[in-house]
Amino acid sequence: MEHNRGSWGSNTGFLLAAIGSAVGLGNIWSFPYKMGRCGGFLFFILYLLLSVFVGFVIMAGELAMGRKTGRGAVGAYHALSKRFRWVGWLAVFSPFVVMGFYAVLGGYCMEYMVLNLSHLVIPGMQSQRGAEAFQMMLSHPMRSLISMLAFMAVCYLISRSGVSGGIERFNKVGMPALFGMLAIMIVRSLSLPNAMEGLKFMFLPGYAVEAGFIQQAPGFASILATAGGQMFFSLSLAMGAMITYGSYLGKGENLAKNAGIIVTADAIVATLAGVAVIPAAIANGIVEIRSGATVLDAATGLERAMTLADIQLGGPSLLFVTLQDVFRSMGAIGPLFGTIFYLLVLIAAISSAVSLMEVVIACFLDRSAERGKRGNRPAVVALVSLAIAAEGAVVAADGLGTNGLWVPFQKTFGVIGAFNGSWLEFMSAVSEGIAMPLGALLMSLMVAWELRPKALLEEIHLGGSQKIDGFFTVCIRFVVPLAMLLILVGQLDEIFH
Ligand code: PFF
Ligand code: NA
Repeated sequence: MEHNRGSWGSNTGFLLAAIGSAVGLGNIWSFPYKMGRCGGFLFFILYLLLSVFVGFVIMAGELAMGRKTGRGAVGAYHALSKRFRWVGWLAVFSPFVVMGFYAVLGGYCMEYMVLNLSHLVIPGMQSQRGAEAFQMMLSHPMRSLISMLAFMAVCYLISRSGVSGGIERFNKVGMPALFGMLAIMIVRSLSLPNAMEGLKFMFLPGYAVEAGFIQQAPGFASILATAGGQMFFSLSLAMGAMITYGSYLGKGENLAKNAGIIVTADAIVATLAGVAVIPAAIANGIVEIRSGATVLDAATGLERAMTLADIQLGGPSLLFVTLQDVFRSMGAIGPLFGTIFYLLVLIAAISSAVSLMEVVIACFLDRSAERGKRGNRPAVVALVSLAIAAEGAVVAADGLGTNGLWVPFQKTFGVIGAFNGSWLEFMSAVSEGIAMPLGALLMSLMVAWELRPKALLEEIHLGGSQKIDGFFTVCIRFVVPLAMLLILVGQLDEIFH
């Protein structure tokens, strides 16, 4: 029957789209700051180990689930399992929630790109301080709202043009451009004086604490949970995205190899983004310290000299405050680098956002197909975009908690006060913190004990001989469930602490 499911034009096109999904704000925004908060090296090593033994296995499994059934997340779980057939709904719920804040952050990137561009092209305009720009943006809900809508409009236009005509086409241009811009940013970051300090921070075990960048690294269990959650989010796993993208893939393509390439590319970009961001932030901080900068001490309320520990590496403000200051300090060329950098982040965010949207879109179109109807893609895309925009409006208006939209919610549902923060934190805790590790745990249990690994391995084998059977089986039976359980418990502990 003729239905309205798309398919990729080529395996390379699929790879670029899947890498586009994986490479996103997770790599450029949260990876560097989580690494900063966890004190560098141990986090990095755990991240890489989990990528190989858990990320790769789930990635191959999800691609196989999608291709085997030819359905998105909901349809795939329905087709494959009796006991776990409802898990697909979890995999549609999470992307929808994630998009609520992803769209707002994407809008922030747009705003910063425009800001730097205006510094670049309007003569005599002074670069803005990061803290000022950030505060200005957060406390003006209308501006955040408009930039979020602009971001959603771009995603809408891409999605509406279909899988190969929209998503694949955007990534074929966007991904190479992103890599080029990232290379420029790395050269710039590493050529700043004192950039070595940043590299030591990242790659020398224990250096972050020794040198005084952070007072104390979190405990092992907490670092493991953070690294695991980050790895999952970063690889677009347990949100139905890879099931959906896999469902558009031809039977002859090599799933294990593709999964390996996606995991490797994502880890490389996260590492490189760290190198583009952390040394620059540290180098700039050291310049400020040497020039006698002062800060307001949080404990005493008095002004005191700035120290290494005051360089903001461990929070969301890294990208929007610290880095903006780095660009500002570069003088006349700063705005140029600023524009390139925020454009890079924007492209990464868009390509991930369209994959999140595709999970929900595919769910609708699959339903039409099951009823023998030819789904109306543009209408579905419009509906999904509008629903996300409505959700994003709340997050945008909240301004990361600046405008206190969270407070009424806390009063009404006192218990959930445990989340104690902003809408963004709440939504990311529900999706990334709980639904994602839970979804992955259930998926591995389904594959390991109900379906049996063989069922997916048969699908994986269609793309040529691949010797991953032993590795896949052992990992999905034992390593993945154990890791997911530890990550889930760690995340819950973090959230309700
Ligand atoms: N992997 C994306 C990132 O690192 O920003 C986020 C993401 C996209 C998560 C798509 C999940 C997903 F399905
Ligand atoms: Na990522």
